[in-house]
Amino acid sequence: MSQFYVYEQAVGIGRTDVAVVIDVLRATTSIATALHHGAVCVVPARTVAEARELARRGGADTRLAGERHGVPPRGFSLGNSPREFSRRRVGGQRIVLTTTNGTAALLAAQSRARDVYTGSYVNFSEILAVVRSALRRELDVAIVCAGSEGRFSLEDTACAGRLVRLALHRLPGRGRVQLNDAARSALHIEKPYDEKLARLFQHADHGRTLRRLGFARDLAACRALDAHPVVPHLVGRELVAL
Ligand code: MLT
Repeated sequence: MSQFYVYEQAVGIGRTDVAVVIDVLRATTSIATALHHGAVCVVPARTVAEARELARRGGADTRLAGERHGVPPRGFSLGNSPREFSRRRVGGQRIVLTTTNGTAALLAAQSRARDVYTGSYVNFSEILAVVRSALRRELDVAIVCAGSEGRFSLEDTACAGRLVRLALHRLPGRGRVQLNDAARSALHIEKPYDEKLARLFQHADHGRTLRRLGFARDLAACRALDAHPVVPHLVGRELVAL
């Protein structure tokens, strides 16, 4: 029997074999974009001060990236817009990234899981394959929705629901997979958005906030299904492409 659980926040995560952290708008989309465009690694940091310190120790090929209230903190060379993580800017670079919810969720998941990955729509099929392979081996899998400052996020839960639905589709031994209430709810929440990711971001609180902040084009980047087919895997303190 394996447990396939969704957590709506990075608190109360049970011990698990595999965790997939989702922050569709925008941290885990930016991470997949950076790694697909040749960043050596992405180093998640909890705070702006910690990020500055990690970047200082990282040397010349290190770039500071992230946001607070959606925009880059003073002295950061990149924000958290996936469109900034071009090959020209991040290729061959170590990226130290701190974001309000996504990087904190990642570090919280690390203390509960043996293997931590990040998922989003831009690397959806790659992460789906990781989840299906884990379930086939009867491992426990936790999908951790980063949410928004302690609140529920529609887009993270919809992405989690799509993962649950497609991971279970024709899975051998489906009957031996136990879902929690949040996983069952995510299946329902995802339904109206299956092929309608633009509408999902219109409905989502954070989608509207990003539009207000002038990041409307990020929303298109964040719904580009499978545009960045990588599996970001947290190894020690570094996210690397598997
Ligand atoms: C976060 O981690 O809270 C975000 O990714 C926020 C954002 O930059 O849109």
